[in-house]
Amino acid sequence: MTQTTLPPGPRRPAFVQTLEWITNPERFMRRCRDRYGSAFTVRLGPRADVVFLTEPDAVRAVFQGSPQDMNMGDINGLFRRVLGRKSLLVIDGDEHLQQRKLLLPPFHGERVAQHTAAMLAAAEDDVASWPVGAPFTLQPRMQSMTLNVILGAVFGLQPGPRRDELRVLLARLLELNTTLATTLPQLRHELGGRSPWGKLMSCTKEVDRALYAEIARRREQSDRPGDVLSLLLDAEDEGGEPMTDRELRDQLLTMLVAGHETTATALAWAFERILRHPDVMMRLRAELAHGETSYLDAAIKESLRLRPVVPITARKLAVPFSLGDRHYPAGTVLMPCIFLLHRKPDLYEAPEAFRPERFLGTTSAPYTWIPFGGGVRRCLGAGFALAEMRAVMQVVLSRVELRPAQRRDERIVRRAFTLSPSEGARVVVERRLA
Ligand code: HEM
Repeated sequence: MTQTTLPPGPRRPAFVQTLEWITNPERFMRRCRDRYGSAFTVRLGPRADVVFLTEPDAVRAVFQGSPQDMNMGDINGLFRRVLGRKSLLVIDGDEHLQQRKLLLPPFHGERVAQHTAAMLAAAEDDVASWPVGAPFTLQPRMQSMTLNVILGAVFGLQPGPRRDELRVLLARLLELNTTLATTLPQLRHELGGRSPWGKLMSCTKEVDRALYAEIARRREQSDRPGDVLSLLLDAEDEGGEPMTDRELRDQLLTMLVAGHETTATALAWAFERILRHPDVMMRLRAELAHGETSYLDAAIKESLRLRPVVPITARKLAVPFSLGDRHYPAGTVLMPCIFLLHRKPDLYEAPEAFRPERFLGTTSAPYTWIPFGGGVRRCLGAGFALAEMRAVMQVVLSRVELRPAQRRDERIVRRAFTLSPSEGARVVVERRLA
């Protein structure tokens, strides 16, 4: 019989649940799962019933649902003021599909492969400056590398004053955009420009000025290189229309915000995990010495399984939707929970153990490994992120011998929308290798 009630979940007031979800997402998700099972309803915000889903079949049904029936733009509405009303993250339905079609070709495999040399060079440059013998934090180093890679591969900016100007502005925008004070709608007041939100708004204006100038300059260029912006300037929709300046600006910022912190954090986690598993490290080194990368790819997959940078994804129902024996009313938010699905003991033996071998020589069953989400909203830059992780890890592992600065595992903590290592992956370079 179909049930119209939502799955059970915590009964505490919405603001308490929201606070727990914000301050300690890992404990919140684990406790809910242990108490209520594979699907549970939580209250995040005054009126929002959010159903966490952790079974591959349920997640598949959501990812395969019609884009007209399930929205994401509404949920991502808080990004609109910075990323713009055309951002891929805030649009839905036909408009989303039309923009996505234009944005996909620059992220196809052979296009991404053209950026490998730049990825390797960005890593080489950065690693050369790492101190030997003194502890330092990897995450900011990874952020610097991923920012340089995006500026080159996506924005098409070559080293020089224009790139320096945009780098400073964009780094500031990214920093302001990831503070809690600018992610909580309640704290979004300009207060004469002095509040974190006010600062973010004025920084966004400066970024806009520089970005629109760059887009105008690139439109004039006759011989454009193979970066994402160049390809988008030449792209046309089915009616033969090119992208507008507004669309280009919004999608460039969206790729930056969606692709920079995520990739840097995924890299920080990969090192945090590998450095605490000397057997894995030894095998990686041995394999890389022979020019092989299959174990490295497995280690990257395993790290993204155990430490998914984005713990959930979400779809808001525009119409009622049936899932198994439950009937969800329109307005319900369904959240495929990447974090909990990845630790299901029926999908992964000893799910909390870090074992890259589990991904060697096999392909994951559908909807059992979903760090990049799925369906028509699946991460646009998944292939790009994996290629970048592979390039950076190859360089780091072949240039320096690292050890963790502390033996204890780093805790999983929230940093705006991502789950980060609590100390930012603190390491020590023991010696340089080449
Ligand atoms: C390890 C790094 C990354 C992780 C873990 C990650 C994860 C995700 C996830 C979970 C989603 C939501 C998918 C869904 O709702 O089904 C997403 C969406 C998206 N990601 Fe990524 N991402 C990463 C890197 C990147 C990069 C490098 C770029 C671009 C340069 C990028 C661009 C995007 C965009 C544009 C979307 C929105 C897609 C849409 O709504 O159609 N991401 N990402």
